[in-house]
Amino acid sequence: MGKNVDVDWSQLGFGYIKTDYRYISYWKDGKWDEGTLTQDNKLHISETSSSLHYGQQCFEGMKAYRRKDGKVQLFRPDENAKRMQKSCERIMMPKFPVDKFVEACKSVVKANEHYVPPYGSGATLYLRPLLIGVGDSIGVKPAPEYIFTVFCTPVGPYFKGGMAPVNFTVSDYDRAAPFGTGAAKVGGNYAGSLMPHELAVKKGYADCIYLDPATHTKIEEVGAANFFGITKDNKFVTPVSPSILPSITKYSLLYVAKEYLGMEAEERDVFIDNIDEFAEAGACGTAAVITPIGGIEYKGKFHVFHSETEVGPLTKKLYDTLYGIQIGDVEAPEGWIYVVE
Ligand code: PLP
Ligand code: COI
Repeated sequence: MGKNVDVDWSQLGFGYIKTDYRYISYWKDGKWDEGTLTQDNKLHISETSSSLHYGQQCFEGMKAYRRKDGKVQLFRPDENAKRMQKSCERIMMPKFPVDKFVEACKSVVKANEHYVPPYGSGATLYLRPLLIGVGDSIGVKPAPEYIFTVFCTPVGPYFKGGMAPVNFTVSDYDRAAPFGTGAAKVGGNYAGSLMPHELAVKKGYADCIYLDPATHTKIEEVGAANFFGITKDNKFVTPVSPSILPSITKYSLLYVAKEYLGMEAEERDVFIDNIDEFAEAGACGTAAVITPIGGIEYKGKFHVFHSETEVGPLTKKLYDTLYGIQIGDVEAPEGWIYVVE
């Protein structure tokens, strides 16, 4: 593992530990520069930067996993690169090329290899690509300059308890409008989620569930993760909506459920008044991995799925298969894994 890092991997939550290197590239005069690794974790940007004033920025999240043989691999980084390009389109930022994005991520993992937690620790190295509008300009218009950067930090579970189920409450607030920015991974969506999250935590829940803003009848997101349910006849179901973030984990699970576990799997509306159609439910995402949902509070009633303390059998199978693929224990579909040489 090279240099020793003084971290107790078993105690890691989803926090920030400064690692040695990050990648940075500048866009100016219509093009991206070569990009470089730097030890400086501070950005020096104009006070007028559009990312600061008008939220012209987007980000991504992915993980590097240590395999049993000691090698390190990334899970579908090309999908993060493509989603970042879509986010850029939506808020008029220059796209960072997919191949350069993947190379940047690999170079950051390689330069910080000793921060990749050991196989079996349950911890991983989280990568945060970020693209922001910078430069001198005050009007509400696209920035004259941009920065693309990727940093990393070792992380443990996003929700306390790892594979232990957690409970959620349905928020009265909306996350994103139907033709708004919900499908883009832009910071504004997350600023708006801080208060609903805080209210949910104060009520004793891990986070909140957002309903569709137009009718408030359908489940959209579980905090910063997608929702899935498993029907009583073992079908994997996940909501579809233009204001949901298209989760790479969710699309991977749709594939895993069908192709690895032989389940029926579909994207369709999930009505909050009909959640007792599900025997099990979970939140899925890069940070959340698969977090089983114990129960959901809605309008003063609390609905329990499989159990408040035990993960359900199919959720466990989905987790074991997906996480097995991510850490290299289970053979991956072609093109899903990028080994960091
Ligand atoms: N939904 C939201 C709002 C998110 O922030 C994330 C995290 O990226 C997800 C869902 C899950 O997406 P992914 O599986 O691509 O990490
Ligand atoms: C992720 O799962 O990577 C996320 O971006 C969720 C959250 C930490 C913002």
